[in-house]
Amino acid sequence: MSSSHAETHAATHAQAPELVRVGLVGRSYDILIGENLLGQASSYTGLPAAPLALVVTNEVVAPLYADTLRQALRAHHSRVEMLVLPDGENHKTWHTLNLIFDALLGHGADRQTLLYALGGGVVGDMTGFAAACFMRGVDYVQIPTTLLAQVDSSVGGKTAINHPLGKNMIGAFHQPLRVVCDLGTLKSLPQRELQAGLAEVIKYGPVADADLFDWLESNLDRLLARDPVALTRAVRRSCEIKAEVVSQDEREGGLRAILNFGHTFGHAIESGMGYGSWLHGEAVACGMVMAAHLSAALRMAQPSDVDRLTHLIERAGLPVRGPALKHFADGMDAGNAANYTAWMRHDKKSSAGTIAYVLMEGLGRAKVQSVPDALVQQVIEDRCA
Ligand code: NAD
Ligand code: GLY
Repeated sequence: MSSSHAETHAATHAQAPELVRVGLVGRSYDILIGENLLGQASSYTGLPAAPLALVVTNEVVAPLYADTLRQALRAHHSRVEMLVLPDGENHKTWHTLNLIFDALLGHGADRQTLLYALGGGVVGDMTGFAAACFMRGVDYVQIPTTLLAQVDSSVGGKTAINHPLGKNMIGAFHQPLRVVCDLGTLKSLPQRELQAGLAEVIKYGPVADADLFDWLESNLDRLLARDPVALTRAVRRSCEIKAEVVSQDEREGGLRAILNFGHTFGHAIESGMGYGSWLHGEAVACGMVMAAHLSAALRMAQPSDVDRLTHLIERAGLPVRGPALKHFADGMDAGNAANYTAWMRHDKKSSAGTIAYVLMEGLGRAKVQSVPDALVQQVIEDRCA
């Protein structure tokens, strides 16, 4: 078989991606899920053929995937430019965001310019935020390359940078035109990052889908071993749940808050410990255990369900205990749970200083409500070293 024949054969037999639709009035979009999508020109068919495309990526992802993406995008855009950002959560800042604006202006971008976010949640959140702001809003496409980004951050249009006092505090809702989840990119992901991504997959069980939780208990080892069939199912089901929730409550007026299960406790760990010290997924994992214990203390969840969740998180290689309280020392109350709750008050679900907690009502159902500080602080003292 000649090489061109072989290519035609491969193209003809390339497996069609699985599709999940995010339904939003006037702004619905597809999530494409499959192997080797990143380098296929057809993954981008139907997007606006903007003369200029800017791919925003980072120094870890660029050497792995930027050339493949550039080749595929050449079929759709006459110019494809690259911007390679520094890697890491501690670079999710104004300064880095500004590098995106510098690149856009430097390349003569206009309102037709299309941005592509190639990377994990950090690149995705910052590129989305830049797209929301540049010339008061341009379009962008998410190409998530971490498990966490494929199952959560690339879907739903939340974009942001961090503030030293609070995680994701500066941002905007801005939906992408498409999400391209290439499962092949997960092969190069470090194991610790894969595990961090599993935290967000596990999250969907307690808040929305008891069957998913059962399935995860039975299939966690396959996921940890990157079995492609198991990963496809986990990504697909996570995207379905997220799409359903976002379709009903795009701007988090109510229901969408359930997707923040574990995040109020977790964000305090991330910001209180210094961004990048704990991975986002690790902090969320530990935060889910704390939120589950709080739910049990309020008699909303059975201790046996808390144990099942804790055990699954532990099996995923994720932390189930928080950092020592002395790390949250900040001012006169150094080393007690009040410091931890002070960090939690910067949560976006806080209103007039009252924190709304996402709690589990058994497995598969969540509820959002305020909780007396004393009970929260007891859980923090019990769960932090
Ligand atoms: P990340 O973007 O920092 O990626 C993790 C690490 O993996 C980085 O070092 C990255 O360079 C590297 N990497 C990415 N793809 C790779 C690949 N295929 N092979 C090898 N290395 C690769 O972190 P993340 O876990 O993807 O995302 C976390 C961020 O997402 C946090 O900032 C969090 O706040 C945000 N988030 C946002 C939402 C949302 O709805 N917008 C939801 C959840 C999380
Ligand atoms: N990750 C929570 C949300 O998108 O609402």
